[in-house]
Amino acid sequence: MLFDRKPKVRREDFYDREEELKLFLRGLEVGEGLIVVYGVRRIGKTSFVYVALNEAEVPFVPVDLRKFSESPSLLSPSSVLRLVEDALAEYDKVARVRKAVEKVLSRVESINVNGVTIRTRGSERLAAEILERFDAWARRRSTRLIVVLDEAQELRVVPSWRKILAWSLDNLENVTFVVTGSEIGVLRDFLRLDDPNSPLFGRSRLEIALPRFSRDKSIDFLKRGFLEIGLSVPREEIEDAVDKLDGIVGWLTYYGHYRASYGVSHDDALARVEGDAVELLTSELEKIVKYSPRRYVAILWAISLGLRSWSTIKRFTEGVAGPVPDKNFDRLLQNLVRYGFVEKTPNLEYRAVDPLLPKAVEKLRKKYRV
Ligand SMILES: Nc1ncnc2c1ncn2[C@@H]1O[C@H](COP(=O)(O)OP(=O)(O)O)[C@@H](O)[C@H]1O
Ligand SMILES: [Mg+2]
Repeated sequence: MLFDRKPKVRREDFYDREEELKLFLRGLEVGEGLIVVYGVRRIGKTSFVYVALNEAEVPFVPVDLRKFSESPSLLSPSSVLRLVEDALAEYDKVARVRKAVEKVLSRVESINVNGVTIRTRGSERLAAEILERFDAWARRRSTRLIVVLDEAQELRVVPSWRKILAWSLDNLENVTFVVTGSEIGVLRDFLRLDDPNSPLFGRSRLEIALPRFSRDKSIDFLKRGFLEIGLSVPREEIEDAVDKLDGIVGWLTYYGHYRASYGVSHDDALARVEGDAVELLTSELEKIVKYSPRRYVAILWAISLGLRSWSTIKRFTEGVAGPVPDKNFDRLLQNLVRYGFVEKTPNLEYRAVDPLLPKAVEKLRKKYRV
């Protein structure tokens, strides 16, 4: 069902992304060792990867690294790979990959990080040994093994990951890492693919960006979703939802879900999506806003009011939070870009990534009394 809120696993529940899927599957076929999937929050990265790997019918183990953000000591290559190795056991219990994939998915979703003790202290050699076992495991089955590092920017606190990934690319024939990230700038900083001093520099990889859906596609997505469940919804309402939710398929899905599952009106459904969005966005924003609340909130406020140029945003920020040296202001603004809350347009203007940012900003303003 298109309007199911869980990450999609099956092709028939997943709208479009034809080109990107083709590219991804081709990448697997030619044996890429590293596939990087970029895209802002709730654009469908996790779904895309699950659907693609399900189509490919290859064994894969997804690791949701956001779950680890409270326990950075578990982020070392060896601890993460040990968890992957545990999950691999599922594949040995059943003959059909598809069955195992379902089990693995449900199991990894429920990994309780707090219950996991550090069995291995971050030795790179140990990580390499585990990876060699993965490679042998895949070779025995004449397949590839895919390790999905979902929201991999969390790994930036452990730079040895770059070495491990590079080592794996050089030495293993049957293992592919799929890496996703919402905080695109942070992920790029972590991987340092274009930095000659980085171990990953110059290594072959496939990079796939998932853009927002165009207005037409967003409308078509909602239409199909409603058709699928036999609910007739006026075109004006669909267009209004698309205008307000701006091509972010996650929010469109939530909108459809509320209309379909609770039979609420257009306005109510939009209000509920906004409620969810505000809660999620504020908690995500707070992770960085807390370091300089007045200034960050002022910048976000300016952007949510539609101010676009560096200097008008700065002037507004200073009006709210007092004088800020150019350099400091720029660092804060660029951080918002790196973390994927604000985007810089080709003509060097700044705009909110998420159409629901203004509501989140209202909440942050109350909280921090800005
Ligand atoms: N192409 C798609 N077709 C249908 N639903 C989608 C699609 N992409 C994402 N979704 C839905 O949007 C929401 C966010 O997707 P998710 O894969 O979690 O995004 P991300 O990992 O980028 O944050 C989920 O409810 C998911 O089911
Ligand atoms: Mg995701």
